[in-house]
Amino acid sequence: MKGIILAGGSGTRLHPTTLSVSKQILPVYNKPMIYYPLSVLMLAGIREILIISTPRDLDSFRGLLGDGSSLGIELSYAEQEKPNGLAEAFIIGADHIGGDSCALILGDNIFHGPVFSTLLQENAGDVDGCVLFGYPVNDPGRYGIAVLDAEERLVALDEKPERPRSNCAVTGLYFYDNDVVEIARGIEPSSRGELEITDVNRTYLENGNAKLVDLGRGFAWLDTGTHDALLQACHYVQTMEQRQGIRIACLEEVALRMGFIDADSCYRLGAALSSTDYGRYVMDIAQEFAPGVAE
Ligand code: G1P
Repeated sequence: MKGIILAGGSGTRLHPTTLSVSKQILPVYNKPMIYYPLSVLMLAGIREILIISTPRDLDSFRGLLGDGSSLGIELSYAEQEKPNGLAEAFIIGADHIGGDSCALILGDNIFHGPVFSTLLQENAGDVDGCVLFGYPVNDPGRYGIAVLDAEERLVALDEKPERPRSNCAVTGLYFYDNDVVEIARGIEPSSRGELEITDVNRTYLENGNAKLVDLGRGFAWLDTGTHDALLQACHYVQTMEQRQGIRIACLEEVALRMGFIDADSCYRLGAALSSTDYGRYVMDIAQEFAPGVAE
Protein backbone atom coordinates (compact mmCIF):
# COMPACT_ATOMS: atom_id res chain seq x y z
CA MET A 1 0.00 0.00 0.00
CA LYS A 2 1.20 3.51 -0.86
CA GLY A 3 0.57 6.55 1.34
CA ILE A 4 -0.30 10.17 0.67
CA ILE A 5 -0.23 13.02 3.16
CA LEU A 6 -2.18 16.03 1.99
CA ALA A 7 -0.66 19.05 3.68
CA GLY A 8 -2.02 21.86 1.55
CA GLY A 9 -4.64 24.51 2.22
CA SER A 10 -4.17 28.10 3.22
CA GLY A 11 -4.89 27.67 6.94
CA THR A 12 -6.96 30.87 6.91
CA ARG A 13 -8.50 30.16 10.29
CA LEU A 14 -5.01 30.29 11.80
CA HIS A 15 -4.02 33.66 10.31
CA PRO A 16 -1.82 35.55 10.99
CA THR A 17 0.21 32.54 12.25
CA THR A 18 -0.03 30.79 8.88
CA LEU A 19 0.42 33.84 6.65
CA SER A 20 3.93 32.72 5.76
CA VAL A 21 4.24 29.20 7.11
CA SER A 22 2.31 25.99 6.49
CA LYS A 23 -0.16 25.01 9.17
CA GLN A 24 1.18 21.44 9.08
CA ILE A 25 4.68 22.66 10.06
CA LEU A 26 3.41 24.35 13.22
CA PRO A 27 4.28 22.56 16.45
CA VAL A 28 1.81 20.38 18.25
CA TYR A 29 3.51 20.63 21.65
CA ASN A 30 7.04 19.42 20.87
CA LYS A 31 7.11 18.36 17.23
CA PRO A 32 5.80 19.56 13.87
CA MET A 33 2.18 18.73 13.13
CA ILE A 34 3.04 16.56 10.12
CA TYR A 35 4.89 14.09 12.37
CA TYR A 36 1.52 12.90 13.67
CA PRO A 37 -0.08 11.83 10.36
CA LEU A 38 3.28 10.55 9.10
CA SER A 39 3.57 8.31 12.16
CA VAL A 40 0.08 6.94 11.45
CA LEU A 41 1.04 5.84 7.93
CA MET A 42 4.27 4.32 9.23
CA LEU A 43 2.36 2.43 11.93
CA ALA A 44 0.11 1.05 9.19
CA GLY A 45 3.30 -0.40 7.67
CA ILE A 46 3.41 2.03 4.75
CA ARG A 47 6.90 3.03 3.59
CA GLU A 48 6.37 4.82 0.26
CA ILE A 49 4.74 8.13 1.02
CA LEU A 50 3.95 11.16 -1.13
CA ILE A 51 3.63 14.53 0.58
CA ILE A 52 1.44 16.98 -1.30
CA SER A 53 1.51 20.65 -0.40
CA THR A 54 1.30 24.11 -1.90
CA PRO A 55 4.05 25.49 -4.18
CA ARG A 56 4.90 27.92 -1.35
CA ASP A 57 5.31 25.28 1.36
CA LEU A 58 6.67 22.17 -0.30
CA ASP A 59 10.31 23.11 0.37
CA SER A 60 9.72 23.41 4.12
CA PHE A 61 8.50 19.80 4.20
CA ARG A 62 11.48 18.71 2.09
CA GLY A 63 13.81 20.55 4.46
CA LEU A 64 12.18 18.94 7.49
CA LEU A 65 11.85 15.34 6.32
CA GLY A 66 14.15 14.91 3.32
CA ASP A 67 13.88 11.69 1.35
CA GLY A 68 12.93 9.68 4.44
CA SER A 69 15.91 7.31 4.13
CA SER A 70 17.10 7.98 7.69
CA LEU A 71 13.74 6.61 8.87
CA GLY A 72 13.83 3.68 6.46
CA ILE A 73 11.02 5.08 4.34
CA GLU A 74 10.76 6.73 0.89
CA LEU A 75 9.31 10.20 0.82
CA SER A 76 8.46 12.06 -2.36
CA TYR A 77 6.84 15.42 -2.89
CA ALA A 78 4.27 16.96 -5.23
CA GLU A 79 2.52 20.30 -5.57
CA GLN A 80 -1.16 21.02 -5.38
CA GLU A 81 -1.24 24.33 -7.18
CA LYS A 82 -4.63 25.43 -5.92
CA PRO A 83 -6.91 24.14 -3.15
CA ASN A 84 -8.99 22.09 -5.59
CA GLY A 85 -10.16 19.61 -2.96
CA LEU A 86 -8.89 16.57 -1.13
CA ALA A 87 -9.79 14.12 -3.88
CA GLU A 88 -7.34 15.82 -6.24
CA ALA A 89 -4.62 14.08 -4.19
CA PHE A 90 -5.31 10.84 -6.11
CA ILE A 91 -4.99 12.57 -9.48
CA ILE A 92 -1.76 14.35 -8.47
CA GLY A 93 -0.53 11.10 -6.91
CA ALA A 94 -1.62 8.73 -9.71
CA ASP A 95 1.95 7.80 -10.71
CA HIS A 96 2.94 7.32 -7.08
CA ILE A 97 -0.04 5.00 -6.50
CA GLY A 98 0.63 3.04 -9.68
CA GLY A 99 -1.20 -0.27 -9.46
CA ASP A 100 -1.29 -0.32 -5.67
CA SER A 101 -3.84 0.41 -2.97
CA CYS A 102 -3.51 3.76 -1.23
CA ALA A 103 -3.97 5.42 2.15
CA LEU A 104 -4.69 9.13 2.34
CA ILE A 105 -4.25 11.07 5.57
CA LEU A 106 -4.81 14.77 6.07
CA GLY A 107 -1.74 16.57 7.37
CA ASP A 108 -3.63 18.25 10.20
CA ASN A 109 -5.37 15.20 11.67
CA ILE A 110 -4.10 13.82 14.97
CA PHE A 111 -4.99 10.28 16.00
CA HIS A 112 -4.00 8.61 19.23
CA GLY A 113 -5.44 5.62 20.96
CA PRO A 114 -5.00 2.10 22.27
CA VAL A 115 -4.00 -0.68 19.84
CA PHE A 116 -4.25 1.77 16.97
CA SER A 117 -1.34 0.23 15.05
CA THR A 118 -3.07 -3.19 15.11
CA LEU A 119 -6.28 -1.63 13.84
CA LEU A 120 -4.36 0.15 11.07
CA GLN A 121 -2.45 -2.94 9.99
CA GLU A 122 -5.59 -5.11 9.99
CA ASN A 123 -7.37 -2.68 7.71
CA ALA A 124 -4.45 -1.73 5.47
CA GLY A 125 -3.87 -5.27 4.20
CA ASP A 126 -5.84 -6.32 1.13
CA VAL A 127 -8.24 -3.38 0.87
CA ASP A 128 -11.26 -4.14 -1.27
CA GLY A 129 -13.18 -0.90 -1.75
CA CYS A 130 -12.62 1.80 0.85
CA VAL A 131 -12.16 1.87 4.60
CA LEU A 132 -13.29 4.96 6.51
CA PHE A 133 -12.72 5.66 10.19
CA GLY A 134 -15.64 7.12 12.15
CA TYR A 135 -15.47 9.08 15.38
CA PRO A 136 -18.28 10.56 17.53
CA VAL A 137 -18.16 14.37 17.78
CA ASN A 138 -20.42 17.00 19.26
CA ASP A 139 -20.19 19.29 16.21
CA PRO A 140 -20.83 16.93 13.26
CA GLY A 141 -21.86 19.74 10.90
CA ARG A 142 -18.17 20.66 10.53
CA TYR A 143 -17.20 17.33 9.01
CA GLY A 144 -18.07 14.64 6.54
CA ILE A 145 -20.47 12.42 8.47
CA ALA A 146 -21.51 8.79 8.26
CA VAL A 147 -25.13 7.70 8.65
CA LEU A 148 -25.74 4.17 9.93
CA ASP A 149 -29.00 2.19 9.95
CA ALA A 150 -30.45 0.24 12.88
CA GLU A 151 -28.16 -2.69 12.06
CA GLU A 152 -25.13 -0.36 12.19
CA ARG A 153 -24.67 -0.57 8.41
CA LEU A 154 -23.25 2.44 6.63
CA VAL A 155 -26.09 3.88 4.51
CA ALA A 156 -25.15 7.48 3.71
CA LEU A 157 -22.28 9.97 3.73
CA ASP A 158 -22.92 13.73 3.92
CA GLU A 159 -20.36 16.53 3.67
CA LYS A 160 -20.80 19.24 6.31
CA PRO A 161 -24.59 18.90 6.46
CA GLU A 162 -26.62 21.78 7.89
CA ARG A 163 -28.79 19.29 9.76
CA PRO A 164 -26.52 16.33 10.57
CA ARG A 165 -28.29 12.96 10.62
CA SER A 166 -25.66 11.49 12.93
CA ASN A 167 -22.81 12.55 15.20
CA CYS A 168 -20.33 10.19 13.53
CA ALA A 169 -17.62 12.22 11.77
CA VAL A 170 -15.59 10.64 8.99
CA THR A 171 -12.00 11.32 10.02
CA GLY A 172 -9.22 12.37 7.68
CA LEU A 173 -7.73 8.89 7.24
CA TYR A 174 -8.89 6.78 4.33
CA PHE A 175 -7.79 3.45 2.82
CA TYR A 176 -8.67 2.70 -0.81
CA ASP A 177 -8.17 0.02 -3.41
CA ASN A 178 -6.63 1.01 -6.73
CA ASP A 179 -9.98 2.13 -8.22
CA VAL A 180 -9.64 5.39 -6.29
CA VAL A 181 -7.64 7.06 -9.06
CA GLU A 182 -10.32 6.45 -11.69
CA ILE A 183 -13.10 7.35 -9.27
CA ALA A 184 -11.39 10.65 -8.38
CA ARG A 185 -10.93 11.43 -12.07
CA GLY A 186 -14.63 10.83 -12.63
CA ILE A 187 -16.17 13.10 -9.98
CA GLU A 188 -17.33 16.67 -10.63
CA PRO A 189 -16.31 19.67 -8.50
CA SER A 190 -18.83 20.51 -5.76
CA SER A 191 -20.66 23.83 -5.39
CA ARG A 192 -17.55 25.19 -3.62
CA GLY A 193 -15.49 24.22 -6.67
CA GLU A 194 -13.64 21.33 -5.02
CA LEU A 195 -13.21 17.63 -5.71
CA GLU A 196 -14.73 16.35 -2.48
CA ILE A 197 -13.40 13.26 -0.76
CA THR A 198 -16.97 12.56 0.36
CA ASP A 199 -18.03 12.20 -3.29
CA VAL A 200 -15.28 9.60 -3.79
CA ASN A 201 -16.43 7.76 -0.68
CA ARG A 202 -20.06 7.97 -1.78
CA THR A 203 -19.14 6.28 -5.07
CA TYR A 204 -17.67 3.38 -3.12
CA LEU A 205 -20.77 3.29 -0.90
CA GLU A 206 -23.06 3.19 -3.94
CA ASN A 207 -20.95 0.33 -5.34
CA GLY A 208 -21.48 -1.54 -2.07
CA ASN A 209 -17.86 -1.60 -0.97
CA ALA A 210 -17.39 1.11 1.65
CA LYS A 211 -16.55 -0.01 5.17
CA LEU A 212 -16.69 2.13 8.30
CA VAL A 213 -14.45 1.34 11.27
CA ASP A 214 -15.59 2.98 14.49
CA LEU A 215 -12.71 4.48 16.46
CA GLY A 216 -15.10 4.85 19.37
CA ARG A 217 -14.90 6.55 22.74
CA GLY A 218 -11.60 6.34 24.55
CA PHE A 219 -9.79 7.26 21.37
CA ALA A 220 -8.47 10.74 20.59
CA TRP A 221 -9.05 12.29 17.19
CA LEU A 222 -8.02 15.89 17.53
CA ASP A 223 -8.66 18.94 15.47
CA THR A 224 -6.03 21.61 14.85
CA GLY A 225 -8.07 23.98 12.73
CA THR A 226 -8.35 26.93 15.13
CA HIS A 227 -6.01 28.48 17.67
CA ASP A 228 -8.02 27.00 20.54
CA ALA A 229 -8.17 23.54 18.97
CA LEU A 230 -4.44 23.65 18.31
CA LEU A 231 -3.70 24.63 21.90
CA GLN A 232 -5.96 21.83 23.17
CA ALA A 233 -4.09 19.34 20.97
CA CYS A 234 -0.79 20.61 22.43
CA HIS A 235 -2.12 20.14 25.96
CA TYR A 236 -3.36 16.64 25.14
CA VAL A 237 0.06 15.57 23.85
CA GLN A 238 1.83 17.25 26.78
CA THR A 239 -0.47 15.55 29.31
CA MET A 240 -0.09 12.07 27.82
CA GLU A 241 3.66 12.36 27.29
CA GLN A 242 4.45 13.75 30.74
CA ARG A 243 2.15 11.34 32.57
CA GLN A 244 3.36 8.20 30.83
CA GLY A 245 6.94 9.15 29.94
CA ILE A 246 6.23 8.23 26.32
CA ARG A 247 6.34 10.23 23.10
CA ILE A 248 3.41 10.37 20.71
CA ALA A 249 4.37 10.37 17.00
CA CYS A 250 8.10 10.03 17.61
CA LEU A 251 9.10 9.05 14.07
CA GLU A 252 12.44 7.52 15.05
CA GLU A 253 10.76 5.27 17.64
CA VAL A 254 8.05 4.23 15.18
CA ALA A 255 10.68 3.44 12.54
CA LEU A 256 12.58 1.30 15.05
CA ARG A 257 9.53 -0.57 16.35
CA MET A 258 8.28 -1.18 12.81
CA GLY A 259 11.65 -2.66 11.84
CA PHE A 260 12.36 0.09 9.28
CA ILE A 261 15.66 0.99 10.98
CA ASP A 262 17.92 -0.77 13.46
CA ALA A 263 18.76 0.35 17.00
CA ASP A 264 22.15 1.77 15.94
CA SER A 265 20.58 4.10 13.40
CA CYS A 266 17.87 5.06 15.86
CA TYR A 267 20.47 5.90 18.50
CA ARG A 268 22.40 8.06 16.05
CA LEU A 269 19.23 9.97 15.10
CA GLY A 270 18.61 10.64 18.77
CA ALA A 271 22.23 11.65 19.40
CA ALA A 272 21.95 14.30 16.68
CA LEU A 273 19.20 15.92 18.80
CA SER A 274 20.77 15.12 22.16
CA SER A 275 20.36 18.63 23.54
CA THR A 276 16.58 18.09 23.57
CA ASP A 277 14.29 15.82 25.60
CA TYR A 278 13.10 14.44 22.29
CA GLY A 279 16.60 13.40 21.25
CA ARG A 280 17.38 11.86 24.63
CA TYR A 281 14.12 9.93 24.49
CA VAL A 282 15.07 8.51 21.07
CA MET A 283 18.49 7.47 22.45
CA ASP A 284 16.83 5.83 25.50
CA ILE A 285 14.39 3.92 23.29
CA ALA A 286 17.24 2.61 21.14
CA GLN A 287 19.12 1.47 24.25
CA GLU A 288 16.03 -0.17 25.72
CA PHE A 289 15.50 -1.97 22.42
CA ALA A 290 19.08 -3.16 22.09
CA PRO A 291 21.04 -2.77 25.33
CA GLY A 292 24.64 -1.81 24.66
CA VAL A 293 23.80 -0.05 21.42
CA ALA A 294 25.63 3.12 22.42
CA GLU A 295 28.91 1.40 23.22
C1 G1P B 1 -12.27 17.38 5.34
C2 G1P B 1 -13.33 16.47 4.70
C3 G1P B 1 -14.33 16.00 5.73
C4 G1P B 1 -13.61 15.32 6.90
C5 G1P B 1 -12.53 16.26 7.47
C6 G1P B 1 -11.67 15.55 8.49
O1 G1P B 1 -12.86 18.57 5.72
O2 G1P B 1 -13.96 17.18 3.64
O3 G1P B 1 -15.23 15.09 5.14
O4 G1P B 1 -14.53 14.96 7.89
O5 G1P B 1 -11.66 16.75 6.44
O6 G1P B 1 -10.71 16.39 9.04
P1 G1P B 1 -11.97 19.93 5.86
O7 G1P B 1 -11.29 19.80 7.17
O8 G1P B 1 -11.02 19.91 4.71
O9 G1P B 1 -12.96 21.04 5.82
